[in-house]
Amino acid sequence: MLVTIAQVSSAGGINSMKDSGKKDKPGGSLFLADRLRRRAQQEIAKGDLKAAVRLLGRAKKIQPDVAHFAQLYAATLAELNLSARRSEGCGRKAQASKAKKKLSVVSCGFGPPAQMTCESVDAMRSCGAVYSCCLDAIAARGVFKLSIPLVRCRFQSLSRNIRRAFVRHDNVGLLIYGNPLFLNPHVEGILRDISSLAEVQVLPGISSFDALVNMFGMMNLSGKGVYLADCESVVKDPQFEPEQDTFFFSPWRINDKENRRYRAGFFKAIADKYPGRFPVFLAKYSLNPAKCEIIRGCVACLPSLLKYCDRAHTLVVFSERGQLSLSNSPPWLRLEVRNKCVCD
Ligand SMILES: C[S@@+](CC[C@H](N)C(=O)[O-])C[C@H]1O[C@@H](n2cnc3c(N)ncnc32)[C@H](O)[C@@H]1O
Repeated sequence: MLVTIAQVSSAGGINSMKDSGKKDKPGGSLFLADRLRRRAQQEIAKGDLKAAVRLLGRAKKIQPDVAHFAQLYAATLAELNLSARRSEGCGRKAQASKAKKKLSVVSCGFGPPAQMTCESVDAMRSCGAVYSCCLDAIAARGVFKLSIPLVRCRFQSLSRNIRRAFVRHDNVGLLIYGNPLFLNPHVEGILRDISSLAEVQVLPGISSFDALVNMFGMMNLSGKGVYLADCESVVKDPQFEPEQDTFFFSPWRINDKENRRYRAGFFKAIADKYPGRFPVFLAKYSLNPAKCEIIRGCVACLPSLLKYCDRAHTLVVFSERGQLSLSNSPPWLRLEVRNKCVCD
């Protein structure tokens, strides 16, 4: 039979050609070596140079006297080493360019510039652009005055704008109210999106929880600690821990049209766990002390209390023990509670 052997192109690939007419019987060593060579060619076509080198190594061993197999083996091995070096270089280059880019996620607390940390201000000043969807014009002016390159935009365009900004800048900022990663599930999508092209650093800020802790003077916790709940999930699957001081974040969700079918179940579940006249509070912190709010109702009239609730209120239900320390609050705390209980 005529043996087909391969020739290595200048790029290291294998081209078919006819041998000088060498013949071999099926099952002979030349026949077997050539079969290995053909399989190697298939592996190269699939892009598996490692497998091709292995097969050609075997062919070379079977036919040490045929120079073509040794040449093929050497050339394919060289190609394999070259491509390994190339991909190593590409990986390092990609990593280096990602390492150069940084997204700083910073907080303005509940009112810039007063509640921004020095660390956050420094990080924002080092940015080419800082995007935010949560500042009004007055708050934005306060940020501009600190020489921070603020760009206000809608939430929906944050991710796209940040991506585009990385074409021009190495450092870009995302400014959020409260503590950036405290109950902010929609920010996760943006960070996931950006983390493929930049390092992401999140700097701590002041959360609504921090603000409420001071408003209520929570120097002690209930014996069983604190329960933080997000009404997004609690309204659908009511869970209450009456022995813990409880903060229900986003209580506006109980009023939300989307949750209409869960409302009655939520009110029944809380009424099953607490006495009807047990006090509940809607609390809102503001940088302006005159605008801080604590509105009192009770478990029985919670549906009517929630009429006062906007997106910045948190629903607070203390444990018996927490309730006691609230009624004996120190004089300097000056808790101003508006009573809206319709059961009194
Ligand atoms: C989506 S969460 C965001 C929390 C924010 N990341 C933080 O650190 O406070 C929004 C909820 O936080 C609470 N919240 C926000 N601003 C508040 C304020 N000024 N006073 C009291 N609670 C507030 C409310 O329960 C509101 O529905």
